[in-house]
Amino acid sequence: MKKIISICKGDGVGPEVVNEGIKLLKVIADHSDFEFEFQEAPAGGSIWKETGESLPEKSFEIIKNSDALLFGAIGIPGLPQGIAESAILKIRQGLDLYINLRPIKLYDALRDRCPLKDEFIGKGIDITFVRENTEGIYKNIGYLKEEEAQNVMLYTRIGCERIIKYAYEFAKKNGHSKVTSVDKANILKTSQLWRSIFHAMAVQYPDLKTEDIYIDAFCQWLIRAPYSYETVVTENMFGDIISDEGAFLIGSLGMASSGNIHPGKVSMYEPIHGSAPDIAGKGIANPIGTLLSVKLMIQESFGQEAIGNEIENAVEDTLNEGRTIDIKNDALKTLSTHEMGNLISEKLRDRLKK
Ligand code: IPM
Ligand code: MN
Repeated sequence: MKKIISICKGDGVGPEVVNEGIKLLKVIADHSDFEFEFQEAPAGGSIWKETGESLPEKSFEIIKNSDALLFGAIGIPGLPQGIAESAILKIRQGLDLYINLRPIKLYDALRDRCPLKDEFIGKGIDITFVRENTEGIYKNIGYLKEEEAQNVMLYTRIGCERIIKYAYEFAKKNGHSKVTSVDKANILKTSQLWRSIFHAMAVQYPDLKTEDIYIDAFCQWLIRAPYSYETVVTENMFGDIISDEGAFLIGSLGMASSGNIHPGKVSMYEPIHGSAPDIAGKGIANPIGTLLSVKLMIQESFGQEAIGNEIENAVEDTLNEGRTIDIKNDALKTLSTHEMGNLISEKLRDRLKK
C-alpha cells in the first residue's frame, strides 16, 4: 500500500517533533504493507520571511497531491499577527477539512501530571472533541479599521449538519453513550441554528443520549467532571479554546494530537501545541502529540485501526520508563525529544514484529 505523505515541519519545535513522526512511519513501513514516500511542503513563518508567502503555491500543490499531510507547528516571534497562522487556515479551508478531531485522553501513567485532584479525575478522562473546522469566525469575514473592527461568525446549515452528523457517527462507532454539544445559544444566533440541528438529528440516534451546554458552563464542568464527557461537538472557536484547556488535563499540551479531516480526501495531522519558540532547538519538546497524530493519520486516513492502537500502546509503555521535561517525573529518566521518539519507535517495532 503506497502512500505519499506530505511533510510540513514548519517553525520552532515543528521540525524536531515531525522528525520523530517520520521515524515512526518508517517503523510502520518496515513491519506492514505500507510503503511511504515523503514530500516536503514548507509553510509557516520562516518560509514567509524567505518568499513572502506562508503557504507557497508549490507547497500547497504537493499537499493536494499527497495522501495525507503531517504538520509540525508554525509561528516565529516578531511576525505580524496572523501571517504564519494563515497557512494553517488556507490548508483547512482550501482542502475543506471540516472536522477537527482532538482526543483528550489521560493515560494511567500520567495521572501524576494531571492538575486535578483525584476526586475530579474520577474514573478517568477520555474525551474526543469534534471541532467544526471551516466556518464561524475562522471564515475570516470582517475588517480592521482605526476606530472599530468586526468579525462575522457565519454558519451554514450544511456546515452544521455535516459536523454534527460526523460527531454522532463517531460516538456510535466508538461505543459512546452520549454526545455533548457546546454552544452559546442564549446569545448567538449561529448557536441557535446549531442547536436546532443537533436536536433534530438526535432522533436518528436513539441509542445515544444527548445534552447541550453553554460554553462558559462547559469550561467549568470540564475541570469539575471531565469523566462525564465522551464525544463533545462544538463550533470552531469554542473548540479551539476547550482543546487547550483539555490538553493540560492530560498532563501537557505536548501530549495532545489532532486530525484536520475530510473523510476520503487529503487530511492534515498535527500536534496542537504550536511552535513553542521558547524551547525551540533545545531538543526537549515532547514528540508524543505528533506521534499520536500519526496514529490518527493511520486510522482515519488509511483505515488501519490495529496499527494505530499499537502506536498508542507503545506511547503508554514509554510513559512508565521515561518522560520529556513537560511531563517529568523524578522517579523516571528525563528524556530528550529524540530519546523519547526512539524509545516509542522501538516499542512500536517490537509490537509490530509480533
Ligand atoms: C489551533 C491553533 C490555530 C487555530 C491557529 C494557529 C490558526 O490555535 O490549531 O488550535 O486557531 O485553530
Ligand atoms: Mn488553538
